[in-house]
Amino acid sequence: MRIDVVTAFPDVFEPIMGSAMIGIARTKGVLEFAAHDLRDWALPGVHRQIDDSPYGGGSGMVLRPEPVFEAVDAVSSMDARPPFVILMSPQGERFTQGRAEDLAGRDRLLILCGRYEGFDERIRSLADLELSIGDYVLTGGELAAMVVADAVTRLLPGVLGGETSIEDESFTTGLLEYPHYTRPAEYRDMDVPEVLRSGDHGRIARWRREQSLLRTARRRPDLLEADGIELTDTERRFIDRALHEHAEDE
Ligand code: ADE
Repeated sequence: MRIDVVTAFPDVFEPIMGSAMIGIARTKGVLEFAAHDLRDWALPGVHRQIDDSPYGGGSGMVLRPEPVFEAVDAVSSMDARPPFVILMSPQGERFTQGRAEDLAGRDRLLILCGRYEGFDERIRSLADLELSIGDYVLTGGELAAMVVADAVTRLLPGVLGGETSIEDESFTTGLLEYPHYTRPAEYRDMDVPEVLRSGDHGRIARWRREQSLLRTARRRPDLLEADGIELTDTERRFIDRALHEHAEDE
């Protein structure tokens, strides 16, 4: 997979995209990554202008279309594979694990970061997809682009050690993950549940499934109503009973 980013702040990417798991993915050659400086395609002139005041008046500056269109042309042609172009914006589709899986299956992504008070509306026509990482406004698309690159990279084959750690985790199963424990068995009056120390793999698997169901029911009941979630009648009854008992405890 190759990911290119077009941004007015390319330097902010290297600390994140060069370390930990993403850095290893790049060293292994699973991920090729490059952040390109939008100013390389600035308007001619000493000021290397990339933005301008808005038509119709108002405060702030708006990203001009020419640098972005030229950057997309130039960066696209750096590789034979045509990129899937993503525009980061708070007006986009909400980013989810399902979308991360879809993007991880593509050969090449080109991510455009919005900046300043906004960008010229014509820039939208460059994008195959507009993505938001949540209902809040960041100062620019850079952090959002790194969130997307991180979530996608960890799904690439060979990046995480065991693929089962992905299969079990929150949002892949549609449920929140069960609690994890490691040594010591007792710490500050908090004990590791006995079942996890029992060595009984059947009991452990049942306990983990129940914990996932309970957590999801209590913290994110909306996930249990989502399409594609598969619960048995017994599991539905277990959740109802547990929530009912829990309500009586309070
Ligand atoms: N740019 C500014 N805010 C954003 C958000 N929430 N998601 C994606 N890009 C953004």
